[in-house]
Amino acid sequence: MCGIIGILYKGRHVAKDLVRGLKLLEYRGYDSAGVATINRDELLIEKDKGRIDVLNSKLGFEDMPGRIGVAHTRWATHGAPDKINAHPHTDCDGKIAVVHNGIIDNFNEIKDELIRKGHIFKSLTDTEVIPHLIEEYIKNGYSYRDAVIEAVSRLEGAYALGIISLYDPNLMIGVKQLSPLVVGLSEDGVFIASDINSLSPFTKNVIVLDDGEMVFLRTDGYEIMRISNRQRVDKKPLTIEIGTQFADKEGYVHYMLKEIFEQPVVLNYSIRVQEHYLNLMAELLDRSKEIFIIGAGTSYHAALLGSMILSRIARLTAIPVIASEFVSQYGDVVNVESSVLAISQSGETIDVLKAIEFAKSRAATILGITNTLASTLTRVCRVYIHQQSLPEIGVAATKTFTGQLAVLYRLAMVAGKRRGKLSQREMDEMKVEIAKIPGVVEAVLRNVDPIVKKLAKKYSKTKYFIFLGRGLNYPIALEGRLKMLEITYIPSLAYPAGESKHGPISLVEEGVPVIFVAPPDETRRFIIGNMEEMKARGAKLITIGYSDDSELKELSDEYIPMPMVNTLFSPIPYVIPLQLFAYYTATVLGRDPDKPRNLAKSVTVL
Ligand code: G6P
Repeated sequence: MCGIIGILYKGRHVAKDLVRGLKLLEYRGYDSAGVATINRDELLIEKDKGRIDVLNSKLGFEDMPGRIGVAHTRWATHGAPDKINAHPHTDCDGKIAVVHNGIIDNFNEIKDELIRKGHIFKSLTDTEVIPHLIEEYIKNGYSYRDAVIEAVSRLEGAYALGIISLYDPNLMIGVKQLSPLVVGLSEDGVFIASDINSLSPFTKNVIVLDDGEMVFLRTDGYEIMRISNRQRVDKKPLTIEIGTQFADKEGYVHYMLKEIFEQPVVLNYSIRVQEHYLNLMAELLDRSKEIFIIGAGTSYHAALLGSMILSRIARLTAIPVIASEFVSQYGDVVNVESSVLAISQSGETIDVLKAIEFAKSRAATILGITNTLASTLTRVCRVYIHQQSLPEIGVAATKTFTGQLAVLYRLAMVAGKRRGKLSQREMDEMKVEIAKIPGVVEAVLRNVDPIVKKLAKKYSKTKYFIFLGRGLNYPIALEGRLKMLEITYIPSLAYPAGESKHGPISLVEEGVPVIFVAPPDETRRFIIGNMEEMKARGAKLITIGYSDDSELKELSDEYIPMPMVNTLFSPIPYVIPLQLFAYYTATVLGRDPDKPRNLAKSVTVL
């Protein structure tokens, strides 16, 4: 987590653009922020606890002079989110400023050593050891550049660093190990940042650094070096087109609401991902002896549904696993005949990357579905599919979840056809059905939005929610629960409806809201039984079901009417009311749905 950006311009001040880029990185953490620039032989630093916009007005980030600078938005790991622990961090003399994303595992040992040598530490962060260590090497006679190389060589853990210093005010240094870092190049100057999107207002020419590399940037050029052998690495910039058109709120109050309403448009992109790559992926899956499908958070819910769809449509067994559990649960059976399909919106979630690193070391085939071009995931996969949901800023995943599902449906269809489990006619029919889904989602958004808004007002004071679904819609119940608890902080449970008798029912008393995801598929008649059981104990039944299902309607206290949809694809439209329900409940309670407390969009610490 944490986002870093650095800019060195030929002829103008950097602070305004640093703040602009930093705001695009705010999804990575937002408990504190800071900016450092160098102006007339002076290192200027402003930082504090709080959101970028607020701090910008309070501290005047944008007015800081200087043609070189680094900036940081923080998700605290070591040390509370406060002014002292906010980045950038400096050495004793205040000549070196460092911003850092990641964790330095051996910081305690380095810190003890530096304290013994007389260094004074101001913060509780792991990061602060870096400027002090560089300073120590300089004291011992190293040039500034060599001191940075020596210092970085001692660090263990995960780190993307941006470093500027009065020792060489025309040099910006970037370092990458496990945490992401990209370099940008333009006519006006040079950049480093945690992702490509944050550079999109400034340049399309980027270089993605690999682990163990550092970059030395000046306005007239750059040099990339492998830290371990200090050899130069030749890398040419790529031109990457990233739409910035979806990067502002476009009149919506929050990114989350905008992104929910964007789904009809972006789903069309995800449904139409190139068949060529789906085919390649399907071929590799078909050849594998075991298939694992992994993800974290919302992406795990996509993995769970993906596993069901692969089974149903392609008759393939793919074991769904939470990424952080993968090695301990299944590590022993992973081998050259295994495939691991990783689902990650950001392509940078460390739990996913660690699982893949392990699987790769056992010679397994690595496949990926991601929303982020040039992310680490795309670079370690044998085949990856870019889901094309466009940038998602809200921390709670919405459009990228339905985009993941769309890609998984397409993959299962292609795999089913390859394996002879679907005839051409069946495949064509499914293609027609899935092509209708964006239109169905549009209708759902239009019809259910006012209904869900009212429900959110009515139920926002509840002590807890229970979400139940069966079959393909069990992952949708899980996703509805995750959305609700992460942005409203209302404790919520989700279970397969049939399992609710084995525990959750003990929580049911008069007035407890139980949300049923109940499309008119083969699970409906069992769901009705589960609804009766809950109702008999006083639950308030909130049901998402087909608009003309009078039996369900009658049984329910609240009914969210859905259009007719081919039930195989029902999870995509049926999650929409749950996204809206969480969103409106959060706003009724005065929570910020875009930036829920303690969370970050991209989790790059273990
Ligand atoms: C964090 C985010 C979630 C996301 C999860 C996995 O927890 O807050 O919204 O689902 O990470 O992220 P990924 O980028 O791997 O899909």
